[in-house]
Amino acid sequence: MLIMGIDTACDDTGIGIVEDGHTIKSNIVWNQNKVHAKFGGVVPELAARKHAEIITLAIQESLDKAQKSFLDIDAIGVNCQHGLLRSIIVGVAAGKAIAYARDIPLIGVHHIEAHIYSNLINNPSLKFPFLTLTVSGGHNLLINCLDHGKYELIGRTLDDSAGEAFDKVSKLLGLGFPGGPLIENAAASGNSRAFNFPRPMIDRDNYDFSFSGLKTAVLKTVSGLKANNVSINVPDLAASFQMAVIDVLVNKTIRAAVNNNLSTIAVAGGVAANSLLKAVLSDAACANGIETFFPEIALCTDNGVNVACLAFYKLKSGLISGYDMEATASSPFGELNMLYKKIH
Ligand code: KG4
Ligand code: ZN
Repeated sequence: MLIMGIDTACDDTGIGIVEDGHTIKSNIVWNQNKVHAKFGGVVPELAARKHAEIITLAIQESLDKAQKSFLDIDAIGVNCQHGLLRSIIVGVAAGKAIAYARDIPLIGVHHIEAHIYSNLINNPSLKFPFLTLTVSGGHNLLINCLDHGKYELIGRTLDDSAGEAFDKVSKLLGLGFPGGPLIENAAASGNSRAFNFPRPMIDRDNYDFSFSGLKTAVLKTVSGLKANNVSINVPDLAASFQMAVIDVLVNKTIRAAVNNNLSTIAVAGGVAANSLLKAVLSDAACANGIETFFPEIALCTDNGVNVACLAFYKLKSGLISGYDMEATASSPFGELNMLYKKIH
């Protein structure tokens, strides 16, 4: 069963071809970093226009790389929920067109659920139930993954996501966009104890996050240094900020796993690419007898492979979408099954 997955949630045009939910035949991601870098963040209108300009080329490249043609594709998976609406519409229109022309099943998926499946692609030993921390630019959630399609949301950010904080602090420090890898890089030569930034909500008796105050704390520190004509040590600032984010993410995630009797943690989303997060979380989990899973780096950020893998499991459960499937920017995670009709 060969599935083409399409993800245009934000500024990456992701097309993936996956066999039987696990064997990656191609993973094409055309990022638009150059388009958005000068604005220090994604400009939704420009992102949608760029998707429309390049999506057919990216689809053709994914087929070429997989050495397949449209005739080999058995089903289309497409992100139709969560992200920038105009960007998602481009992917949904492309997915519908291919499914209609070939008369093959169309499976719409929720972007965050697709991120969760990034861990199932290469890790056959990952079994339900497990706790997922999905952490990227657009989402920051703790989800108890009970089974395929069965989730319990146990924590979320009340304002910025961790990835958004990375992007905003990177802009503030003049490092560029997207911020995560640039902050991680700068932090490598910095002292994470140089600045004592707050760890927002770390002691609260819940699993929610808040990162906007941390970003403001960095802003105030930078303004204070500038006002006093003190030169800014970017590596130290980056390292101290990164450590504050990681401390909160790790603390809350471990507590959520322990209190919910979950012995497995999977991390997904762009920030899962952060090597210090991986090291600190893995150590803390190990100390608590918990196993951790991280996707391969190429599957952390947005891509079509995650979508294709998830679409495979939906189809296996007899779930497909109709051609009236809508594109929506923000959908409650608990209403996933409204997307499907049962075929057997
Ligand atoms: O999952 P993704 O591609 O898009 C969304 O769904 O938002 O994640 C992108 C986010 C950006 O905020 C980016 O700065 C962050 O993931 N990111 C990282 C790293 N690589 C990407 N954050 C921290 N460390 C990284 N190495
Ligand atoms: Zn994403």
